[in-house]
Amino acid sequence: MNIAVFVSGNGTNLEAIIDAVSRDEIKAKIALVVSDNKDAYALERAKKAGIDTFILSSKGFKKREDYDKEIIKELEKKNIQLIVLAGFMRLMSGYFVKKYKHKIMNIHPALLPSFKGTHSIKDAFEYGVKKTGVTVHFVDEELDHGSIILQESVDVDENDTLDTLEEKIHKVEHKLYPEAIKLFTENKLKIEDRKVKIKD
Ligand code: GAR
Repeated sequence: MNIAVFVSGNGTNLEAIIDAVSRDEIKAKIALVVSDNKDAYALERAKKAGIDTFILSSKGFKKREDYDKEIIKELEKKNIQLIVLAGFMRLMSGYFVKKYKHKIMNIHPALLPSFKGTHSIKDAFEYGVKKTGVTVHFVDEELDHGSIILQESVDVDENDTLDTLEEKIHKVEHKLYPEAIKLFTENKLKIEDRKVKIKD
């Protein structure tokens, strides 16, 4: 199975996925890394691993769909069957989401449906929750809304700072995302209504 990983920033999740593929835990190929940001450190990680990259700034595109159509051309060239959003800080168009229905995953650093958006770790920390966590979900037309594949909670201790909480969340992300991708590539995810069942 050919996977594309979409990134905008650091790429620690990309790295965790690269590692899981190279350990043969995920039996698939990361055929492409897509970035909307030419300066994303994730691109360095991709190059180091010998993975092809496609960089497309959204500047100059009037419609979200037009941008996504350019990306789809590249995905089709590489026969991509799973799209993994790993810190990709752009909303996909309805067109894109429909075309790859139940074939796009995202990782979110909170227990959805709590703390949607782009500053979830900070929002949860400042809210004073005792537990937060990580969600891997399919992407649908609404922000941080699609069917949940895996979730794991993280305790917020009294002596945690935002930095230590971030560290704990990232550690869980780097374990949970490869697990979810592995399940998908083994065809073990079954969607009923909006519930994802995991087959044995
Ligand atoms: C991750 O923590 C991911 O959950 C978050 O961006 C970070 C990317 O880190 N995504 C979102 O907040 C999406 N709403 P990385 O570039 O090191 O993988």
